[in-house]
Amino acid sequence: MSEGEQAQEYHGKLPRHVAIIMDGNGRWAKRRHMPRVAGHRAGVESLRSIIQRCGELGVEALTLFAFSSENWRRPEKEVGLLMELFIIALQRETKRLNERNVRLRVIGDLSRFSDKLQKEISKAEEKTKVNTGLLLAIAANYGGRWDITQAVKKLALQLEKGDLAAAAVDEDMVFQHLCMADMPEPDLFIRTGGEQRISNFLLWQLAYSELYFTDVLWPDFTPKELDTALEWFAGRQRRFGRTGDQVEQIKRA
Ligand code: IPE
Ligand code: IPE
Ligand code: MG
Repeated sequence: MSEGEQAQEYHGKLPRHVAIIMDGNGRWAKRRHMPRVAGHRAGVESLRSIIQRCGELGVEALTLFAFSSENWRRPEKEVGLLMELFIIALQRETKRLNERNVRLRVIGDLSRFSDKLQKEISKAEEKTKVNTGLLLAIAANYGGRWDITQAVKKLALQLEKGDLAAAAVDEDMVFQHLCMADMPEPDLFIRTGGEQRISNFLLWQLAYSELYFTDVLWPDFTPKELDTALEWFAGRQRRFGRTGDQVEQIKRA
């Protein structure tokens, strides 16, 4: 099947937003008797091919968990190497992202990163900001609890200044202050590496996402593996609290 036909195949059932926990780099390397960082390097290759595939298929947004707020607990050496890899990837990949019309955004508490890394992030965001294709969000030093907390803090400040009444606070207002307020909520969540947990990723935004877990380690997650996840997604009935019959009725109307 050609790519165009495949996109057609998912027609109407293609997720607008895919969010991925890219897990299993360390185990991938360990199995090969290689240092963990070799797994992270191999993971960058997967990342590149998955971004390309999402762009080709017409997925609107892709969010990738690259470094969690808890990952600082890893050995200093691994954290340092991950930061280095992040800088190198930003420098190397920006050109490719532009060629593919991808707009990059990095979400998370960036203040803990080095000045150099923060600068590279702004540069890459700036260089890709006019692109109109896939919106790529990289979650770095991101935590779902941090995201909700920073949203609440912004609202509390408005309240303190007298610009906001407590009674006016509703779900939509909280959502509007989260990191991805201008993006559709993720329709499909994927976690590679065999663990079945959220690990403080997008806590608010995943409320109604379809959750797909695979044992495949991230460096082995090819576009074909993504297609399998998309096929699985296309077969889900999303009910949002309604009954299955109601959903069928709405579809026919
Ligand atoms: C995910 O792979 C990448 C990051 C968290 C940066 P891991 O490094 O967690 O790989 P495993 O889980 O140890 O195999
Ligand atoms: C989650 O993976 C974070 C990223 C993939 C960046 P971890 O491997 O850190 O998750 P836990 O700690 O095992 O749940
Ligand atoms: Mg892991």
